[in-house]
Amino acid sequence: MSKVLYIKANAKPEGTSRTFKISDAFIKAYNENHQGDEIITLDLYKENIQFLTEKDINTVFGPKSDDSRNHPILKYAYQFMEADKIVIAAPLWNLGVPAILKAYIDYISVSGITFKYTAEGPVGLCQGKKAIHIVARGGAYTEGQAAGYEMGDRYLRILFGFFGIVDFTTIAAEKLDVVGEDVEGIVNIAIQKALKEALEF
Ligand SMILES: Cc1cc2nc3c(=O)[nH]c(=O)nc-3n(C[C@H](O)[C@H](O)[C@H](O)COP(=O)(O)O)c2cc1C
Repeated sequence: MSKVLYIKANAKPEGTSRTFKISDAFIKAYNENHQGDEIITLDLYKENIQFLTEKDINTVFGPKSDDSRNHPILKYAYQFMEADKIVIAAPLWNLGVPAILKAYIDYISVSGITFKYTAEGPVGLCQGKKAIHIVARGGAYTEGQAAGYEMGDRYLRILFGFFGIVDFTTIAAEKLDVVGEDVEGIVNIAIQKALKEALEF
């Protein structure tokens, strides 16, 4: 039995967000094919996620105790650690991830929980987990010069690698804001990929 953490990062709701159309289809198919697994949905816009204050920084990098699990910030890092599989649904915003997702990452990047410092440098503590990022983009970033401009998926992939998560898949629906494109067709192709991926994930 696996624990899946489904992280949703979009101000737009279900039914409007193309990202969520794909990710919700993924979760539905996953659920049908992995009966008994637990899926925890974390809608970041419904959580009380703030920017780190000076006090928070001391908490994130300071010593941890038995009470840390109940701390309003550290609880997210423990929750992340307890998941076997991570699903992130986040559109491309201004060439990166939505700010709320970055703020969440500041909550879960906690020394002594998701990574640790050693004499040889930092080491990820999340080995063995797998992750998938489902993303909708207005333009196209998979080829050529534009690929270098995309810093959302690339950021997540590198950061998760830092945590020790190397099994990282991306499903991207692109050109959704390009006039003349078959937007519904593009989203449907991404949904088909998501349904297939959900069987193996
Ligand atoms: C705040 C904001 C910033 C965006 N920045 C980009 C961008 O840098 N590059 C891009 O290709 N599309 C950008 N878009 C377009 C979205 O990526 C695109 O509309 C996508 O489908 C949004 O996903 P959603 O339908 O799940 O909301 C932006 C949209 C918003 C709302």
